[in-house]
Amino acid sequence: MTPPPVLLDCDPGIDDALALIYLAGLHTRGDIRLVGVTTTAGNTTTRRTAVNAAWVLARCGITDVPVAAGRAEPLKAPLVTTPETHGEHGMGYVTPTVDQDVDTHWETLWDKVCAEHGESLQLIVTGPCTNLAAWLGEGSQTTAAFDSVTIMGGAVLYQGNTTPTAEWNFWVDPDAAKDVFAQASPELPVTLAPLNVTEQMLLDPLGLETLIAALGGTPIAADLPEILRFYFEFHEATGAGYQAQIHDLLTCMIALGTVAHRTTETTVDVEADSELTRGTSLADHRGHWQRPANAHLVTEADIPAAWAEFHAAARTLAQAAASR
Ligand code: RIB
Ligand code: CA
Repeated sequence: MTPPPVLLDCDPGIDDALALIYLAGLHTRGDIRLVGVTTTAGNTTTRRTAVNAAWVLARCGITDVPVAAGRAEPLKAPLVTTPETHGEHGMGYVTPTVDQDVDTHWETLWDKVCAEHGESLQLIVTGPCTNLAAWLGEGSQTTAAFDSVTIMGGAVLYQGNTTPTAEWNFWVDPDAAKDVFAQASPELPVTLAPLNVTEQMLLDPLGLETLIAALGGTPIAADLPEILRFYFEFHEATGAGYQAQIHDLLTCMIALGTVAHRTTETTVDVEADSELTRGTSLADHRGHWQRPANAHLVTEADIPAAWAEFHAAARTLAQAAASR
């Protein structure tokens, strides 16, 4: 069976980095074809997120996946980044460097992979929805251009991590999030993994030791302690304990169906105009808005199974590193 083509749009960012490690493992094992990685501004600037994405892939032994920096600014809101969460350069206490300058032709990459892979392409978005909204807005595209669209974002009837009601990705670019759900075709609803579920994907120092052991000689393993130490300290400082919420890794497993999870079909909309409730995600479970469903909202996932899945992908990278 042909491995499914996957396009990741992300903002590395520490939990995005673990998602990239996971996808690198599946790509190496031949379970997916990671046909491209594009990046947005959110955790850090677009250029830094692209450098970080290319660096993580290279440290996982991946050299055949194109990486391109996406739009530098949200659709309308001024860019706000979060060095206090992910570090000055978006990788904790580590400063990634890459040899060649980053490619900025992200739309060319999206057009190319969509033309080549048609409707079998699985799009995963783990940062602000800026690139997706811009791409949908500029052409006559709808989300039906993809086989599936899975987004990490939102907090549905659940406290936000950026304001009392808003999650970071949707707060950074609320207009993009709103546009995506407005254009989500009823034929192809967006799968949304909100904080309600992704905050349960918790990595602590013992879990990090287990992950590093599974990665073996994979070069990225040596970098993880100083990347995650920053993230552990941030979570401890914000009352979440000395551990880290790995939102984007779980989102990739949900997108690929490699972890058991439940969803409910609903209609999602995002507040983009009010400063007080900017980025708040709403789900109309009872049909008040009388609008067609546009989302599969993830309500639960098998977290222990997700960690086992990640460790298996890490062992694949370890075996590949050992044979190089
Ligand atoms: O709110 C969590 C999300 O915002 C994650 O994707 C994290 O990487 C940040 O982008
Ligand atoms: Ca992210």
